[in-house]
Amino acid sequence: MSADDAGGGVLGTSETSSEPLYRVTDLTRSFGRGGRVRALDGVSLEVRRGQRLCIVGESGSGKSTLIRLMAALDRPTSGEISFEGRSIVGMRERELGFLRAAVQLVFQDPRSSLNPRMTVGSIVTEPLRSAHLRSALDAVDPRQRLTEVLRAVDLPTDAATRYPHEFSGGQRQRIAIARALAPDPAVLIADEPVSALDVSVRAQVLNLLSDLVAARGLTLIFVSHDLAVVRHLCDSVIVLKQGRIEEQGSAAQVFAHPRAAYTQALLAAIPQIRL
Ligand SMILES: Nc1ncnc2c1ncn2[C@@H]1O[C@H](COP(=O)(O)OP(=O)(O)OP(=O)(O)O)[C@@H](O)[C@H]1O
Ligand SMILES: [Mg+2]
Repeated sequence: MSADDAGGGVLGTSETSSEPLYRVTDLTRSFGRGGRVRALDGVSLEVRRGQRLCIVGESGSGKSTLIRLMAALDRPTSGEISFEGRSIVGMRERELGFLRAAVQLVFQDPRSSLNPRMTVGSIVTEPLRSAHLRSALDAVDPRQRLTEVLRAVDLPTDAATRYPHEFSGGQRQRIAIARALAPDPAVLIADEPVSALDVSVRAQVLNLLSDLVAARGLTLIFVSHDLAVVRHLCDSVIVLKQGRIEEQGSAAQVFAHPRAAYTQALLAAIPQIRL
């Protein structure tokens, strides 16, 4: 089936609205010689619009590999990923503009994800200037958007003329969040966005994320190895273990009745802190 066949043409309007935002089918990603390291091994999942999905699992379970594939920052060894009904596997970069505009990422460490030589203003508006997004974002006034997103993450407007090193870790992660919001995305993917931060500011940044997701009706895909965070933020959970889905369900379900011993062990490892 071609990418076109999977688009709106075949599906009626009512079917299109129930179409999941993401559909991932039998996704595999191997690394190393002869593909010996199976980072992902036959993962299938769906993400609905407005869903807040947390992906958890121990270190090396394939969390980052999965979201990198979903953001088209990497290509699978096999399997399918469709976004808004269009297969993105095998698309060329210039065809991926629709995904690049709609899906934004926040990474773990704002120290390495923010260019130290750029002002905050140019960092935040960079996604608006990139060639593959310009056509998708024609009507956007960068200055206006900059002011709006800085306010949304509680940074002063004069932050725009300053540099990342002038800010604390928590503030830098706010800058990264502002950059992610700038193209007005439908989906926010965050890979351990608070684990590099001082414990004292983690809850603040999580609350901010939670508020922004609710206020903007964003679909959230949130990676964490910390189940305490998940409980705070997500409506559904996928537990990964050695590249496979060990357990999935609503957050309430998984917390109340974890089926897998692995999930129970992850839950038992939650430190007794309250967010
Ligand atoms: N570019 C790569 N080259 C080789 N191996 C890789 C690469 N990326 C990931 N892997 C391997 O794939 C597996 C899954 O890695 P991944 O980074 O997805 O785990 P993770 O769940 O995000 O872990 P963490 O919680 O430590 O971030 C690991 O064994 C890792 O070493
Ligand atoms: Mg990771």
